[in-house]
Amino acid sequence: MQMPQKVNVLLVGGGAREHALAAAIARSPKLGTLYATHTSNPGIAELAKPVDVPVSSKELYRLAQFCDKHQVELVVIGPEDPLAEGWGDTLRKKPDGTQRLVFGPGARGAQLEADKAYAKQMMRAASVPTAEGKVFQKFEQAEEFLKTRDEVFVIKATGLAKGKGVIVPKTNQEAIAAAKDMLVNRSFGDAGKSILVEEKISGTEVSVLALLDGHNILVLPPCQDHKRLLNNDEGPNTGGMGAFCPADTISDQVMQQIESEVLVPIADALRRDEIEFRGVLYAGIMLTPGGPKVLEFNVRFGDPECQPLMTRLQSDALELLWATAAGTLDQIDVQYSPQSCVCVVLAAKGYPDAPVSGSSITGIEDAEEVEGVSVFHAGTKMNDDGDLVTNGGRVLSVTALGDTMEQARQRAYEAAGKIHFAGMQMRTDIAKDAPVPSPS
Ligand code: AMP
Ligand code: GLY
Repeated sequence: MQMPQKVNVLLVGGGAREHALAAAIARSPKLGTLYATHTSNPGIAELAKPVDVPVSSKELYRLAQFCDKHQVELVVIGPEDPLAEGWGDTLRKKPDGTQRLVFGPGARGAQLEADKAYAKQMMRAASVPTAEGKVFQKFEQAEEFLKTRDEVFVIKATGLAKGKGVIVPKTNQEAIAAAKDMLVNRSFGDAGKSILVEEKISGTEVSVLALLDGHNILVLPPCQDHKRLLNNDEGPNTGGMGAFCPADTISDQVMQQIESEVLVPIADALRRDEIEFRGVLYAGIMLTPGGPKVLEFNVRFGDPECQPLMTRLQSDALELLWATAAGTLDQIDVQYSPQSCVCVVLAAKGYPDAPVSGSSITGIEDAEEVEGVSVFHAGTKMNDDGDLVTNGGRVLSVTALGDTMEQARQRAYEAAGKIHFAGMQMRTDIAKDAPVPSPS
């Protein structure tokens, strides 16, 4: 479908990822009006108009009607939950029987993230390199299996658990306890009613994201994420405490290997299953001594990986999202800034278990004075007195460009140092060990 001169866009989602997407879309000369479901995010509110209907799965028809009424021609869905709930399928349909473009797969495509057992099966069928795994619904069977093994296994809730449903134990005693917690105590609710018991593998992790439009694959620059809460990769897994891009940990040759051994076979498998996947496929990869292996798939941009990706993107983001949804990625040429980018997440006290809301936040304007810095909002809101306060686990994403990774890192931390709220948590080693690219 030809892109019109001006496009009205609806953005779904309210985190720092979506704020970064909104900022990138808002830079496009082709943008008509940007509408957003989550203008309670003060960063998104500055860039987008609110939707004036309820936003929920139950009343999704109201959001579809909103799109019809406001001639929304492209819907961009940021988070996994609405994708898994089939918002893509519903919002694609127009009353006249034609289709609206949606960036993001429908419910069947979203299963790649929402059901780790399905993803594992698909990887196996497509011979995609991944850790070995077994699925259990019954605790006793999982326990029996784990008891008889010498090597330690990783325990994963198969459903969506906000990036926290993976336990990497030190012993199988701990693995058994984690399995019990999920299967018996239902610590992740229904997301943990079945678990994947997976071979523990080791190596450097990279996030390789690619745009899929149903025909073409456009691989984005690799990123590295820091999932643990504390420095030196200690503490519990979180949604992500920081990221950097490009991740020069990974050579061009290994990127090509990932494209041919992971992305192409999965895109083919989706097509074979008649799943039209138009959006972003995120492969969480571990670079093991035996080659790259997939840890997980997501069907959306990573958060925080999206923040550096959108910040480095020099091409028109709206054209890129449109082309993905329209199936015309082969007609697009994408340019990135040659600069490096580092994103540091500032998290609330108590995150990830029980984040404290309502703490007053200061210093964002000062932070944005630092050269190359943008601050994206996630768990923030304006309170009744008009003050900015914390309102969620990951509060802000401080994102900086620099001529080198080290300069980007210094800028991000200089800016982060200007922001204050009670109990703020921040890793101080984001991108610290980012490899320096070898001179070509
Ligand atoms: P996931 O959400 O599946 O990416 O898992 C979250 C984190 O747990 C990953 O980023 C890894 O650090 C770790 N992890 C997941 N699967 C494994 C595995 N099979 N072996 C070792 N670590 C893993
Ligand atoms: N940063 C990891 C994720 O978005 O799942």
